[in-house]
Amino acid sequence: MLISNASQVITMSGHSDKPAKKGAMSEINIIENGSIWIEDDKIVEVGTDKEIREKYKAQIDSATQIDASGKTVTPGLVDPHTHLVHVGTRENEYAMRLKGKTYMEIMEAGGGIHATTRATQEATHEQLYEESIKRLDKFLLHGVTTVEAKSGYGLTLEHELKQLEVAEQLQKEHPIDLVSTFMGAHAVPMDEKDNPEKFVDRVIEEMIPEVAKRKLAKFNDVFCERGVFTPEQSKRILEAGKEYGLIPKIHADEIEPYGGAELAAEVGAISADHLLKASDEGIKAMAEKGVVGVLLPGTAFFLMAEFAQARKMIDAGVAVALSTDQNPGSSPTISLPFIMNLGCLKMGMTPEEVLTAATINAAHAIGVADEVGSLEAGKKADITIFDVPNYLTLSYQYGMNHVDTVIKAGKQLVVGGTLQ
Ligand code: NIG
Ligand code: FE
Repeated sequence: MLISNASQVITMSGHSDKPAKKGAMSEINIIENGSIWIEDDKIVEVGTDKEIREKYKAQIDSATQIDASGKTVTPGLVDPHTHLVHVGTRENEYAMRLKGKTYMEIMEAGGGIHATTRATQEATHEQLYEESIKRLDKFLLHGVTTVEAKSGYGLTLEHELKQLEVAEQLQKEHPIDLVSTFMGAHAVPMDEKDNPEKFVDRVIEEMIPEVAKRKLAKFNDVFCERGVFTPEQSKRILEAGKEYGLIPKIHADEIEPYGGAELAAEVGAISADHLLKASDEGIKAMAEKGVVGVLLPGTAFFLMAEFAQARKMIDAGVAVALSTDQNPGSSPTISLPFIMNLGCLKMGMTPEEVLTAATINAAHAIGVADEVGSLEAGKKADITIFDVPNYLTLSYQYGMNHVDTVIKAGKQLVVGGTLQ
């Protein structure tokens, strides 16, 4: 397959070994009038149209050709933090929040995560699959080709396994690559509120061993937040996961400063996510230990909260990634491009940095940077073509879907903005 003559190919090359930090987050490596030669599911070569046409001239006539003239080509976007597998919506809570109720007040009264947990527990495997696969199609339409997905709306062994099994089936049956995270410690179930330690014990003794045994997850995540799990409880859960080969991730410092960023550095988490209220010490510790900061500005936007200090984090040497946090309570969107717009408009990031954050750094945040996140020889042919003449226009014409074509593992799945 030949993708030819794009006005810009944004390769993001040179950052596959380690996440891009500081000035390197601006090195997006653009080829003007660029072309890409693909064989089967892999990228073989990226270069100028002239170079590629010359080198592959014997094969071009029999290849599938995609004319990208006037368009911008990027790596398929990577979303490193979603709560994809759930049923139901919570627009009633949105209306309550618009009248002044807070996210935590709603959760403490049995709504919030608990509301989606009830719905998800009641749902069959098939219902969960049907709702979630529709969301994956929408991700694809917005240029996303790899998605992390967390459990955490089951909160019992049976229902956590159900969510993870749905994710496993989606990974097999939907073209988007899905990376699974166990998040049994997403909330203390309502009927165990008075004895959270007992629930923590169950996560550690019942759930983690079974999830690991069935190889249903790569990561282990905890909602470390006042009123949910303390840093001590979070640490126990994350250390226990490590013993079973589950790599730690943390929902850190989302609502209050609570030592989540510091804990991420201490336990050697691959990423700390949210970080709206991360302390200066926490940011420094993350930079020193190489913890990726996954920022979710859609959540700050939707909860009408202060945004994470992306500028400060990047300047301090934290590798920053961006994600939708797709979930029915704090961020009911699938538009990673809109999240990139928010990165620029609300967190002081540059258009180059948001591209890095939604591609190669996002891939690092979920341990898949050796396969995806950049357009380089040998990587999977996961490619998004936007109908804009340059990457700057992507962050300038905000809140609209510019995706024209999506290629996943060498197959055209979106053409002219339509699912094939
Ligand atoms: O990342 N903060 C905790 N978990 C999700 C929200 C889940 C929900 O409200 O259903 C988040 O914001
Ligand atoms: Fe989340």
